[in-house]
Amino acid sequence: MYINRLCRPGIAAGLRVLSVVSQNVFIIPGVGYNTARHRSLFPPRTGQELRFSARSASPMVLMMISIRPMVSEDIPTIARWIAAIPLWQRYDYSAEAAQRGLEQALARADLLLTADVGDACACGLAWCVPRGAFGRSCYLRLLGVQSGLHSAGLGATLLGAAEREATRSTDDLVLLVSDFNADAQRFYQRQGYRQVGAIPGYVLPDVTELIFWKRLVPSGAS
Ligand SMILES: CC(C)(COP(=O)(O)OP(=O)(O)OC[C@H]1O[C@@H](n2cnc3c(N)ncnc32)[C@H](O)[C@@H]1OP(=O)(O)O)[C@@H](O)C(=O)NCCC(=O)NCCS
Repeated sequence: MYINRLCRPGIAAGLRVLSVVSQNVFIIPGVGYNTARHRSLFPPRTGQELRFSARSASPMVLMMISIRPMVSEDIPTIARWIAAIPLWQRYDYSAEAAQRGLEQALARADLLLTADVGDACACGLAWCVPRGAFGRSCYLRLLGVQSGLHSAGLGATLLGAAEREATRSTDDLVLLVSDFNADAQRFYQRQGYRQVGAIPGYVLPDVTELIFWKRLVPSGAS
């Protein structure tokens, strides 16, 4: 799968601005699977181009976002920016732990999508564990965007791509979000997720993890 999207530059200072054109997202599926197992879990669709509206309404300078499967060469870059995000510092998620976790996830053929923005590689990550929730639903283990690129539409583009891949094997997606992370809660609600539960002290003793859920495929359609 490979997605090219023209998007607002937001606060992405220093990135190459490509053009002032459209507000559409183009998806060219079926390219770049990591392993045979990954391919079997998320078989490529062929001959299909999907088009979505970007969330911005006004014409503006746009930049190129490409969504693609993460490869092992991306891991050090991603681990570095993950460890710099205050949310994950609170969870003591170090660059070394992220590096290890991502290497294992790649070997397990989890769904790992990253985003390139202009010339900058691997600026975002969507990490899903197929059937990782209750042995049934896809579990969004981590969604993140490098600091300095937030609120430019990258997170929504990555999440949308992960959801489309997830529908190949499951009908719904489950994730945990910290009770103090109001921005992320708002982000997920806007993407159609709703809170269906909460687990106090699940990871950190003083934090409640909120369980968010979205049905990706209409009930009875699969
Ligand atoms: C949450 C996150 C993935 C969203 O990606 P994004 O590219 O910033 O999101 P989009 O541009 O598509 O959408 C913007 C919305 O994301 C949310 N958001 C923006 N910055 C954020 C931040 N620093 N932390 C959390 N959420 C943020 C807000 O709801 C924002 O809406 P607003 O602009 O109306 O306030 C990204 O901000 C991020 O990596 N945050 C830090 C890590 C995190 O909280 N991950 C989710 C853990 S469950």
